[in-house]
Amino acid sequence: MTSLVVVGANGLLGQNIIKKLKNRFEIYAASFEDEAYFPLEYVKSYTQLDITNRSKVVDFLQKVKPEVIINTAAFTKVDACEEVPDQCWVVNVRGVEYLVDASSSFKPVFVHVSTDYVFDGKAGPYSEEDTPNPRGNYARSKLAGEHVVENSNLEYIIARTQVLFGVGNKVRHNFVTWVIEQLTNNKKIRIVDDQIGTPTYAPDFVEAIERLLQKEAYGLFHVSGPDIISRYDFALKIAEVFDLDASLIERIKTKDLNQKAPRPMNSAFKIYKLINYTGWEPNSLTDALKLMKKELALSDG
Ligand SMILES: NC(=O)c1ccc[n+]([C@@H]2O[C@H](COP(=O)([O-])OP(=O)(O)OC[C@H]3O[C@@H](n4cnc5c(N)ncnc54)[C@H](OP(=O)(O)O)[C@@H]3O)[C@@H](O)[C@H]2O)c1
Repeated sequence: MTSLVVVGANGLLGQNIIKKLKNRFEIYAASFEDEAYFPLEYVKSYTQLDITNRSKVVDFLQKVKPEVIINTAAFTKVDACEEVPDQCWVVNVRGVEYLVDASSSFKPVFVHVSTDYVFDGKAGPYSEEDTPNPRGNYARSKLAGEHVVENSNLEYIIARTQVLFGVGNKVRHNFVTWVIEQLTNNKKIRIVDDQIGTPTYAPDFVEAIERLLQKEAYGLFHVSGPDIISRYDFALKIAEVFDLDASLIERIKTKDLNQKAPRPMNSAFKIYKLINYTGWEPNSLTDALKLMKKELALSDG
């Protein structure tokens, strides 16, 4: 079996990678916390790893020497990156440098997860050919992280994704789990109708990566769901699929929120490159939400 290191294994994406690929790869998981948030029988080992600790990164990777690394670890709190830019940079750029440098002798395929925030959102939907123009510290740090990977001597896949949703243990709310929780508790929510994107079901992201690896399709890829939708309409769709009260959803504009970091207004992706290289298409948003509903029912029961 191909050996795979998953970095940031306790995050939403990390847990989804492990759950879906556990029978196809020999997985060595690593994340920031002392304990794994997923069943340990899914993996060969779990290692506590702060990617900003260069010597620990070297020790770990030199011991495992995996054939593939997927880096999902990141400082993902977009607004906090405006308050603590150095912390954001050290994880999203230096951490990537340490991972790449520590791999340069045994040359794994390096899969790195990036974001739609590299675009300013003025001209979406975007293809891989479009020129990034990041606004805000998170966005700039993620683009710099991409450059580290591009300039390495490794075969790589940079997979930009966006508005990830899915099921994970002890992870922060994603948009779908948050909307479900609020509406279930009869709370009113205010959702922007001027931010447009292509939401991504985490298991579909994993399937895309697995297929790209199988095809040895390297380079930059946009990996998201196929449906271009505003946050407001996305919330309405969640209410519909999960049988919740859509009248609790109020339509607002981004300027009403006073968020610290700028948001791209339309950062939807074109995913033709992914479809052309893999011959596979991700689930429609409605189908993905229905699959997530089943997943949540199973994890509750
Ligand atoms: N979520 C989205 O909508 C979205 C959209 C576009 C791109 N992305 C990208 O997708 C990737 C995964 O996102 P996600 O939603 O799965 O994020 P997440 O749930 O926040 O997971 C990131 C994981 O990385 C860990 N981590 C943070 N700093 C670390 C460090 N110094 N060393 C080791 N691990 C560290 C986090 O631990 P702690 O929880 O303890 O900090 C967390 O377990 C990120 O690269 C993100 O930029 C996400």
